[in-house]
Amino acid sequence: MELIQVSDIGRYEGREVVLRGWLYNKRSSGKLHFLQLRDGSGVVQCVVFKGDVEAELFEQCDHLPQESSLVVHGQVRQESRSPIGYEVGVQHLEVVQEAEPYPITPKEHGVSFLLDHRHLWLRSSRPGAILKIRSEIGKACRDFMETRGFVLVDAPIFTPAACEETSTLFETAYFDDTAYLTQSGQLYMEAAAMALGKVYCFGPTFRAEKSKTRRHLTEFWMIEPEMAYCDLEGAMALAEDMVLYVLDRVLDRRREELKLLERDTTKLEQVSRPFPRLTYDEAVERLTALGSDIAWGSDLGGDDETLLASQFESPIFVHRYPSAVKAFYMKEDAQDRRLALCMDLLAPEGYGEIIGGGQREDNLAVLQHKIATHQLPQEAFSWYLDLRRYGSVEHAGFGMGIERVVAWLCGVKHVRETIPFPRMMQRLYP
Ligand code: 4AD
Ligand code: MG
Repeated sequence: MELIQVSDIGRYEGREVVLRGWLYNKRSSGKLHFLQLRDGSGVVQCVVFKGDVEAELFEQCDHLPQESSLVVHGQVRQESRSPIGYEVGVQHLEVVQEAEPYPITPKEHGVSFLLDHRHLWLRSSRPGAILKIRSEIGKACRDFMETRGFVLVDAPIFTPAACEETSTLFETAYFDDTAYLTQSGQLYMEAAAMALGKVYCFGPTFRAEKSKTRRHLTEFWMIEPEMAYCDLEGAMALAEDMVLYVLDRVLDRRREELKLLERDTTKLEQVSRPFPRLTYDEAVERLTALGSDIAWGSDLGGDDETLLASQFESPIFVHRYPSAVKAFYMKEDAQDRRLALCMDLLAPEGYGEIIGGGQREDNLAVLQHKIATHQLPQEAFSWYLDLRRYGSVEHAGFGMGIERVVAWLCGVKHVRETIPFPRMMQRLYP
């Protein structure tokens, strides 16, 4: 008897196999119990016939609670009514643990109840499908970076200073000092790019976001490529290639999960290159024409992003925002000194900004001035300024928020469902 996974069952027709999993659902009719066995790779119906197993076991099956852990021995047979085309005729069944009454039942639960039980909710089909797509996206990102010759360089989590807005720093005691949880690995990737040329980091980042939007978490994952001898155009080209690579991979390998999530994949199939590129000026003009009250000089709000992106089928780049609303490290545009050589990539269908990045300030004096005007501590950035002292070159990169991409590709409205254990202002449990 071979130990197999539900996902491989098609290769075992007529054979005797062993499956290990948990009871997902059950229905009985007189001489038969139909047990839905879930093993992580899929769900299969296991049919227990009264005459085939010991009387005591048949009796136990009748009151087995959902999520009891089971090892099933049986024969695989074709079953046209099964969604996977097969079922298992049970010869022997071992109850590893009879579960206590399971809190998540097939009835509808509120999202807050489900989030309180996230450790169990993960076992349901929808979170399972989202996690598989998330895993595929992470893998696709790494594969893409590999094909382009990038070196993975892990950035630290404890940092001495801010990279993005100081208002969203998480502070923690660090012996006699203070450390901050990283908001972005970018500054370290700039150092690594000067060492290795093309690098990236991929890890958790933290922001004390007090906003309760459907796009913000306090802990989220970012992939951040950084390239030496690269400008804003180069960063946009890489971002476009990466997004298309990830999108194609998910459409190619995760159809089943997208179907389970009832994702309208025609919307994803319509995405094509080149992604439209709008300057900030053009974006503001368009938004004004669409009825937004945005004033030149302010950042695009979430609603503006949704409105603007809804005009297009593919994600859109908005580039050259006013420097005043962007981070200190952005290089100013020589053509118009009020602007930064930066870009955001906005996803269609209301999923908002999925990528932020651009070209970095590479001039020592300008950067020193920027750090001063942003009222950032000079000492903490002294190592960063060194990068402009020893062989400074044009360089650029970006950060892509994994949860936003998962939300977009899965068609999930709120990012809280796109990460295994979401962290938000009001949620630290489980
Ligand atoms: O635009 P952001 O703030 O850019 C940076 O952090 C740069 N230092 C990255 C770089 O150039 N290396 O963040 C990048 C992306 C956003 O576009 C968004 O997708 C995601 O990170 N993001 C968040 N995702 C979930 N919750 C939050 N609170 C997020 N903040 C940013
Ligand atoms: Mg941003």
